[in-house]
Amino acid sequence: MNTKKKIYLDYNATTPVDKRVVEVMLPYFTENFGNASSDHIFGWDAEEGIEFAREQVSNLVNCKSTEITFTSGATEAANLALFGFCKKNSSKGKHIITCKTEHKAILDTMQALETDGFQITYLDVDAEGNIDLEELERSINSETILVCLMLANNETGLIHPLKQIAKIVHEKGVKLMSDITQAVGKFPVDLIDLNLDLAIFSSHKLYGPKGVGALYINKKNKIEIDQTVFGGGQEKRMRPGTLNVPGIVGFGKAADLIFSEMEEESNRVSKLRDQLEALLEEIEDVHINSKKANRLPNTTNVSFENIDGNHLLRKLNNLAVSRGSACTSNIVQPSHVLKAMGLSDELALSSLRISLGRNTTHADIEFASQEIKNTVNQLKKAVI
Ligand SMILES: Cc1ncc(COP(=O)(O)O)c(C=O)c1O
Repeated sequence: MNTKKKIYLDYNATTPVDKRVVEVMLPYFTENFGNASSDHIFGWDAEEGIEFAREQVSNLVNCKSTEITFTSGATEAANLALFGFCKKNSSKGKHIITCKTEHKAILDTMQALETDGFQITYLDVDAEGNIDLEELERSINSETILVCLMLANNETGLIHPLKQIAKIVHEKGVKLMSDITQAVGKFPVDLIDLNLDLAIFSSHKLYGPKGVGALYINKKNKIEIDQTVFGGGQEKRMRPGTLNVPGIVGFGKAADLIFSEMEEESNRVSKLRDQLEALLEEIEDVHINSKKANRLPNTTNVSFENIDGNHLLRKLNNLAVSRGSACTSNIVQPSHVLKAMGLSDELALSSLRISLGRNTTHADIEFASQEIKNTVNQLKKAVI
């Protein structure tokens, strides 16, 4: 067994399931194992668990429980939302606006829509990762049906001003969708206040189980999407298929816990993140990406000049940190987010995303910063 000290600093990739969440899930595997669609006592018990979780999840993001559709994750929710919205609204226009720094769950779905004849505008970002709101406004034309912009970036933590964006977009008669996956649970997300039309998020980023997510459809704004997956009538036909009852129950409990613990935990983690950045800034030629922007409290993205990025992660094998997003990190390619912010391929490849969470301690930060410092300095010597 590998006895080397291991430190997990990749909470934006996924989080451990909270033990209190596991506890409420367990009976739904063994005793309350019914199919939530079955019309008997086992089914009714399962259905009760689902509806309780729907209340808990909607409470976390301040929406009505009837506006939440459970899915297998944010990626599936993105597909249902984008294809469903486009199918419903294609007679009004076939133009969508998004941004170059979105997650692949959005960008790859946009690419698929392009092959279906939709025209997609990919907004540029500045060096911090911000979009230009005037450029957004100028990009909206008579064919535009949807703007899709994430609330918080998974790689840099940058937060887009979505409330302001919603105002611009709605004044033009266009709808706004957002991937709020990285924001939920890290700072208060109020869907009524943000006035989003569609939103997607995921359980495993907030100490819930993997394979569960949510699609929010704003009822007040009368948003409708067409069905794009067919089968049973579950989730009002939007997401047919037998519901993952233990997973959804766990998502609900995780939502409940993070809602009550968010403020204290975000303050604690943001102090640790700032300490980590101060320690890393002692390294020569280091850049903290998006540092001047409004950012998530737990995320830092650091670039090191003049080192071989390919060796960096390999040498830091006792630290779980990420280069680019987890979904693409086994393909060694410079991060599309950092490239959009103007970093060279070389600098993007020698960048790390470090994301902190509930189990991160001050000792972890000291250990990690020392490991990174030693490794970067070693690699610098190797280049000379
Ligand atoms: C911003 C963002 N959107 C979407 C996803 C995909 O979520 P899921 O794993 O639930 O499909 C992720 C996860 O990496 C993410 O960080």
